[in-house]
Amino acid sequence: MTTIGFIGSGNIGGTVARLAVAAGYDVVVSNSRGPETLRDLVAELGPRARAGSAADAAAAGDIVVVSVPFRAYQAVPAEPLAGKVVIDTNNYYPQRDGQFAELDDASATSSELLQRHLSGSRVVKAFNNIFFKHLGSLARPSGAADRTALPIVGDDAAAKQAVTGFLDAIGYDAVDVGALADAWRFQPDTPAYGTPYGSFSDPIGTPADAATIRAAAAKAER
Ligand SMILES: NC(=O)c1ccc[n+]([C@@H]2O[C@H](COP(=O)([O-])OP(=O)(O)OC[C@H]3O[C@@H](n4cnc5c(N)ncnc54)[C@H](OP(=O)(O)O)[C@@H]3O)[C@@H](O)[C@H]2O)c1
Repeated sequence: MTTIGFIGSGNIGGTVARLAVAAGYDVVVSNSRGPETLRDLVAELGPRARAGSAADAAAAGDIVVVSVPFRAYQAVPAEPLAGKVVIDTNNYYPQRDGQFAELDDASATSSELLQRHLSGSRVVKAFNNIFFKHLGSLARPSGAADRTALPIVGDDAAAKQAVTGFLDAIGYDAVDVGALADAWRFQPDTPAYGTPYGSFSDPIGTPADAATIRAAAAKAER
């Protein structure tokens, strides 16, 4: 059985953990305050879930989801993630995260910075462009007519394949938008960010298929 580790188990990490458990995965959740603060989430997730430190979640996961405020990315433990597929859900919001020069001058994407920090891992960006409530409500079985798609990028084809399989299992199609350097195509303030899935004021959201997401990502301008 595949285990999904979570470094950061808030709105997005917690939502992906719920979808993963519903799809039959085991999960190990972690946050910055310690496993005891995740008791309620673990109780809700049930017997497939346990809480640990970030290093525990990194070590236990076959795939590890990093879902923290971007400013904390260098606190993610690199050593236990070596050789693993890491899903990066993070977005750079300077007003929340502080200024990062390489992101401000667009010489790197936030995913490239995470990949540099996790140099032994294979980072794939996913889940960053969808409001967590929509992520929770728009999951559909494979082949459903109203299935929603999520964009992904990564520098390693096998890692993207693994993430595509995980997305499929938890209810989503994947649209491959390219390499980590292309992550800007669905970062904040681009057409593929948030709006294809409906208004934030509507917690249910609107399904958006692969063609819609591919077209939105292609429209992004720098
Ligand atoms: N909210 C959304 O709809 C949404 C959608 C797409 C992408 N995102 C992006 O995804 C990321 C997570 O967003 P979120 O809304 O899920 O945030 P959140 O609800 O604030 O959760 C953040 C999680 O990260 C943990 N964390 C913070 N610093 C950490 C560290 N050094 N080590 C381990 N865990 C740490 C927090 O733990 P503590 O609570 O213990 O500090 C918490 O579990 C952000 O980059 C965000 O921009 C968010």
